Amino acid sequence: MSTLPAAETQATVEDLQRLNRAQARLVTAVQDLSLARTLPEIQAVVRHAAREIAGADGATFVLRDGDRCHYADEDAISPLWKGQRFPMSACISGWAMLNARPAVIPDIYADPRIPADAYRPTFVKSLVMVPIRLKAPIGAIGAYWARQRAAPAAEVELLQALANTTAVAMESVQVYAELEQRIAQRTQQLEALNRELEAFSYSVSHDLRAPLRAINGFAEFLAREVEGTAGTKARGHLDRIRESAQQMGGLIDDLLQLARFARQEVRRQEVDLAAMARDTIARLRAGDPGRNVECVIAEKLPAKCDAGLFAVVLENLLSNAWKYTAKTGRARIEVGAEPPADGATVFFVRDNGAGFDPRQAEKLFTPFQRLHAPEEFPGTGVGLATVQRIVHRHGGRIWATAEIGRGATFYFTCAGATAGRREA
Ligand SMILES: Nc1ncnc2c1ncn2[C@@H]1O[C@H](COP(=O)(O)OP(=O)(O)OP(=O)(O)O)[C@@H](O)[C@H]1O
Ligand SMILES: [Mg+2]
Repeated sequence: MSTLPAAETQATVEDLQRLNRAQARLVTAVQDLSLARTLPEIQAVVRHAAREIAGADGATFVLRDGDRCHYADEDAISPLWKGQRFPMSACISGWAMLNARPAVIPDIYADPRIPADAYRPTFVKSLVMVPIRLKAPIGAIGAYWARQRAAPAAEVELLQALANTTAVAMESVQVYAELEQRIAQRTQQLEALNRELEAFSYSVSHDLRAPLRAINGFAEFLAREVEGTAGTKARGHLDRIRESAQQMGGLIDDLLQLARFARQEVRRQEVDLAAMARDTIARLRAGDPGRNVECVIAEKLPAKCDAGLFAVVLENLLSNAWKYTAKTGRARIEVGAEPPADGATVFFVRDNGAGFDPRQAEKLFTPFQRLHAPEEFPGTGVGLATVQRIVHRHGGRIWATAEIGRGATFYFTCAGATAGRREA
């Protein structure tokens, strides 16, 4: 085994140490590139990394722009060509891209591929240029020195590895951008479609009212005309017509309300949902004095929401609780809040009434979906759809748990709420 002179050994050790550091730097760059989501982020990672990996005095990030090279970014001891574009055939980044391989130039003034005039105003004396992506290059990364220097092969390999990772990062940024654009387009389409549907259901509901009034009115005339003359059967039929017309009227009103809440502006203010719930319960009691329902409402339930819209939410949830406890021996309704789980207070309305199959819980919020037969509990099935719409318009969530025969609990959040004190 031959031994190297002391000076050369020293040089080899230093080279190895430098290469080690360069490798470690490449690993960080690869990690950073995997997190980059935009081209400028990639450029920022690459221009620093290229310079540090090569121990260079400057680095450039070049993008292919048709048949030109765009010097998009740089990091150097003094300005190079940032922002400029050169023909592919007239610069070394173009050469590296067209030939899909690195260019290593120890002395730029001795290499015919280098347009010396472009370099004279700069510090550059030597360089390495590696293409970004070896198959059909989309750019190049340059490293420059202020002295003549033949970059070792290992260093060029590291720069090429950086360029290869850069290519992957650029491809994923493009995929990412395309996906985002597609999502945005799709969202826009859906929103437009939604608006159209809402306008449609609004105008249909509205237009249905006039003929319905006519049916109602003429049925009434007819009822008066046949008074005393017609048999009880005819009366019965007429009553059925009027009942159905009234039911349809109720449906139309609900639909109109649903459409209105989808469009109405949300005006947030400090609201006490507990006070609101007490008012609603008082009204329910007044309208149904025969019933004895125990109501437990938290002392205070502060929320930041639209007062008018949340009155509708409580009205619907509480009248459901009231309605679905009608056949329960010791009916009980509870309104309160749970400590915030993910930042937003969770409010709830609980009852010990008929309940429902919890596997069907998602369905409840779809218009006209009902889990109870009309003979058992009347209703049109629009209440909870309206409630959900209002909660969503506030950026909140709504969900329910229940057990058949043992009651239901409806939970909702309204973003920006703070927890209220709970009273037993
Ligand atoms: N507190 C509750 N307990 C048991 N079931 C409930 C409760 N609240 C709602 N539901 C079920 O969810 C369905 C949908 O409720 P929603 O309020 O939308 O309609 P509804 O009460 O039937 O009619 P309306 O449109 O008049 O409110 C109800 O038909 C019922 O089956
Ligand atoms: Mg209801």
